Amino acid sequence: MDRKKVFITSQIPEIGINLLIEKGYSVEIYNKNQSINKKELIRRAKDCDAVVTLLSDKIDKEILEKFNNVKVIANYAAGYNNIDINFAREKGIIVTNTPDVLTDSTADLTLALILACARRIPEGIDLVRKKQFKGWAPKLLLGMELNNKTAGIIGMGRIGFAVAKRLKAFGCKIIYYSNRINPEAERNFNAKKVSLKNLMKNSDIISIHVPLNEKSKNLINSEMLDLLKKDSIIINTARGEVIDEDYLIKMLYENKIFYAGFDVYQNEPRINPQLLKLKNVVLLPHIGSATKEARDKMSILVAKNVIAVLSGRKALTPVN
Ligand code: DGY
Repeated sequence: MDRKKVFITSQIPEIGINLLIEKGYSVEIYNKNQSINKKELIRRAKDCDAVVTLLSDKIDKEILEKFNNVKVIANYAAGYNNIDINFAREKGIIVTNTPDVLTDSTADLTLALILACARRIPEGIDLVRKKQFKGWAPKLLLGMELNNKTAGIIGMGRIGFAVAKRLKAFGCKIIYYSNRINPEAERNFNAKKVSLKNLMKNSDIISIHVPLNEKSKNLINSEMLDLLKKDSIIINTARGEVIDEDYLIKMLYENKIFYAGFDVYQNEPRINPQLLKLKNVVLLPHIGSATKEARDKMSILVAKNVIAVLSGRKALTPVN
């Protein structure tokens, strides 16, 4: 009997790969230290039964058209904006993602960014490393306390909720913008659903947790950014395209807000050179889910989704 074939576009934690191997599948991994290009991806994946992709692999119509044997694409990420899921559905290809398992890691990183911004951690590190620390001083690097501040969460899904939980513990008042009311957030954190304009106007800390889609693209545009308080902090651990990055950079140059924390960028992995010159930013390389725990669980979930579909069962976390 022919063994089922799985192609993985990058080295992911072994734990999930081992599950696929134990199942008797033939597993091929693209092992180069760079993203696979379109031609190579089509060549190596088109005859496989399953493909495991990263959020940096753009799986468009042209690629999907060639995937004549593929039954499932398991994206190693919670977000799946890199895949044309509608065309995949038309082709009968199931697409899955990895929600839940990375929620706590991403929420932890969001808090790390908020605290790093609020307490001007990058400026502090810089000062010490450049040997410019001349001793304790009453006005050295004054930041902002979180207690009693208003935190505006854009998108009260799993990650937004986990961030709200953490911010509540820091004494923040929680407001949120979402398509629907989150009764659990309202009950547990006394969170109030507000309009986006209201959130932008009244928050001291803004944190973005919406998936990227046609509705959320450029949701935080210049008009919205203009509403921010002068002392506010804005954090993006979702997707770069949700925010008007150029306009935000301009505001940071003009000190129109206090600080911004980025884990994601508009043209990832290219970073706008203007961002690198700013002092009032914290810049991370898209590491929201980068913990041993989350990445292992993502690997297991990806494998379980592949196994479920190839065994004729329902995927655990389908998105189309
Ligand atoms: C995801 O899974 O979508 C995250 O962006 C990874 O950090």
